[in-house]
Amino acid sequence: MNLFDVYPLFDITPVKAEGAFIWDEKGIKYLDLYGGHAVISIGHSHPHYVKKLTEQLNQIAFYSNAVKMPLQNLLAEQLGKLSGYTDYNLFLCNSGTEANENALKLASFHNGRKRVIAFTDSFHGRTSLSLGATDDAKLSANINKDHEVIFLPMNDEAAFKNAINETVCAVIIEGIQGVGGINVPSNEFLKTIESECNKLGVVLILDEIQSGYGRSGKFFAHQYSGIKPHIITTAKGMGNGFPVAGVLIHPDIKAKHGMLGTTFGGNYLACAASLSVLEVIESENLISNALQIGNFILSEVSKMDGVKNVRGLGLMIGIETAGDATLIRKKLLQDEKIFTGFSSGKNTIRLLPPLNIGMNEAKLFLNALNKILQEQLIAN
Ligand SMILES: Cc1ncc(COP(=O)(O)O)c(C=O)c1O
Repeated sequence: MNLFDVYPLFDITPVKAEGAFIWDEKGIKYLDLYGGHAVISIGHSHPHYVKKLTEQLNQIAFYSNAVKMPLQNLLAEQLGKLSGYTDYNLFLCNSGTEANENALKLASFHNGRKRVIAFTDSFHGRTSLSLGATDDAKLSANINKDHEVIFLPMNDEAAFKNAINETVCAVIIEGIQGVGGINVPSNEFLKTIESECNKLGVVLILDEIQSGYGRSGKFFAHQYSGIKPHIITTAKGMGNGFPVAGVLIHPDIKAKHGMLGTTFGGNYLACAASLSVLEVIESENLISNALQIGNFILSEVSKMDGVKNVRGLGLMIGIETAGDATLIRKKLLQDEKIFTGFSSGKNTIRLLPPLNIGMNEAKLFLNALNKILQEQLIAN
């Protein structure tokens, strides 16, 4: 059997990883500023993470959600404490798209409505309604196309106020748009969304799947605005590579047995991984590190010739280049051995590194980027 060939691959085979570095089978060392798409939050193979997962594996790895699992309660308690959402309830599942499907379903259970407002350049996943709320027509098959979703321009208050009314079920918005090119919603816009949703009984869903878990310099990116969404979804950085996702649910949205469910969600290993991530985020002050190193990178990159625009918060950074960003990213990887991400529509290089990178790693990247930009400027 062959693999179903849906991923364009780099010609690199990683065999080992530690902190912010990856080694391939030839022993070549790479700086990982992409974190496997924002997944590596506390660094590759963090010793505390490895220890906790190994201990759990040696005790019990899996049972279904038909038995008591105190680790789930502990995870909910710790997540509540670190995020500040102590009075919310947690539903555990396995991936970002599943978290958003459950969030949208819950919204509809709550107010009985069907219409969804999402935003231009959004990405919420690749299944049913999460795909319906994703602004990328080429990802949808015909069978995906009947959802009642409208897309509005981000940060356009007039368009939003014009579109929202009491027939809308949910508004779904990313804390910071990732796949769409690192676009940060303004605090004022988020506040307008919150107040209109509260007035009209619309459920506000904050997709923090990429921007959450400290990446922005706050636990959740929307916390810069002071709003409180009804539902928050998380995944990627939550398990540092172990597949786990969560839906944080306002106490006004009531649970009923059978309402949501999953076989694998919240299993022992997922909880052990997620708990160890929270422990490391707290003990190593990774949220303030993300802010400090992120601010340094943002400010240094904004001074470089050949950079058109820099966007982002903390360690979620988009660098829009004057020259072809695909080429620059290719050179970063091939010549400088640095992994970065990309947003094609926006000619933007995306940085989503582990939250524990230091100044040395930041400077390695800045020097490499500056060198490539200078070469480009000379060549043109
Ligand atoms: C903001 C956002 N939401 C949802 C998803 C979907 O997550 P997953 O690939 O785990 O289904 C992604 C993935 O990139 C994302 O960036």
